Parts: sequence; C-alpha cells; structure tokens
Amino acid sequence: MSNIMIAYATGEGQTAKICGALAQQLETAGHNVTLLDLESDNTAPVVGSFDAVIVAASVHAGKHQKSVAHFVTDNREALRARLTAFLSVSLAATATEESGRNRANEQVNAFLEQVDWQPDMIETLAGAFRYSEFSGFRRWIFNLSQKLFRKELDKQGWPELTADQEFTDWEQLRRFGNEFSSRL
Ligand SMILES: Cc1cc2nc3c(=O)[nH]c(=O)nc-3n(C[C@H](O)[C@H](O)[C@H](O)COP(=O)(O)O)c2cc1C
Repeated sequence: MSNIMIAYATGEGQTAKICGALAQQLETAGHNVTLLDLESDNTAPVVGSFDAVIVAASVHAGKHQKSVAHFVTDNREALRARLTAFLSVSLAATATEESGRNRANEQVNAFLEQVDWQPDMIETLAGAFRYSEFSGFRRWIFNLSQKLFRKELDKQGWPELTADQEFTDWEQLRRFGNEFSSRL
C-alpha cells in the first residue's frame, strides 16, 4: 500500500473527473490517494511525504495550466526522487491522423521542457467538448477559432465539434492506473 498524490488543474472539469476516477481505481487497489486541485486548494500537502505523484493538466490554446507548471517547478527535486506520471488531457488526443496526434505530443513535450521535468510515465488522454457550459465570450472565441482553423483540424483528424461530447477513453485510463500501480 502506497501514499499517492494526484495534483491537477482543470478548466471545464474533465481533468477533475478523470483524476477522481483514477483516485477511485488506485484506492480500490489498496493505495491511499490525496487529490489536490492546484487552482482552488489553498494548502498543499508536502510532496516529500508521498511515495508517488501523478500530475494532470488540460490544454487550452496549446498550453497546460500555469498552476501546474508552478507546482512542478516548485517541487522538481522531490518529484525526481519518486515515481511520477504526467497526464495531459486535450482534444488533440482525439485526432485520428498522425499529424493531429503529433500535435498532442508536441504540447506535452513543450510543457515538460518548460518545467525541466521527465516523469516516469506520460499519458495523453482525450478530454471532452462542453459547448453548453461555455460563457458567451468563450462561445465567440470558439466559433471564430472553428472558422479559422476547421480546415486544418479536419486534416489532422479532429472530430466534429457541434454538440457536447465526452471523448475520454476510460479503458485507456484504467490501463494507465494499473501500470502505475504495478510500478509502486
Ligand atoms: C477555450 C478552449 C481552448 C482549447 N484549446 C485546445 C488546444 O489548443 N489544444 C487541444 O488539444 N485542446 C484544446 N481544448 C480542448 C480541451 O483540452 C478539452 O476540452 C479538455 O477536455 C479540457 O479539460 P478540462 O475540462 O479539465 O479543462 C480547448 C478547450 C477550450 C474550451
């Protein structure tokens, strides 16, 4: 039985949902799991008191959350000393063409280079599209971006984004959880 921290940031809630499911799976496997929302939890437990850490973030406009970058850089040495994984949630990860999937990996590589961290495991997971929850401003930005980039997104094999949809492959997440657990 190990003590595991899952530190994450989420924009529209999909990464929070993914981390909640992962926490449940790891707890069922007999581990103690602490979930830390880096955008809203004021007091962060010390990374050094955990056996392993999973860091999760989602992509908006090509970037993962700043709060996650700060968490990694502030705790880099402690992260390097234990089992770690980085989980990236995006829509590029839904792409059916290699160029689209490469984009998802590029987003991850840029983040890891920026924070100078090489986790033991890296997982790129498809997120969700929740248009009904967008504010008026976000809808405007989204509609504009579709007009500008839809042709390119089609080339990369992105799905149609016309209605709310969850793309997360829960079986992929379960395999990731099993692999992480087996390394402890
Ligand atoms: C304003 C906005 C910008 C986004 N930009 C990107 C992007 O540049 N690349 C990408 O792969 N996905 C992008 N996405 C998709 C999100 O990564 C996806 O919806 C994910 O599920 C969000 O997870 P969260 O709810 O935990 O924040 C964007 C979503 C929104 C709402």
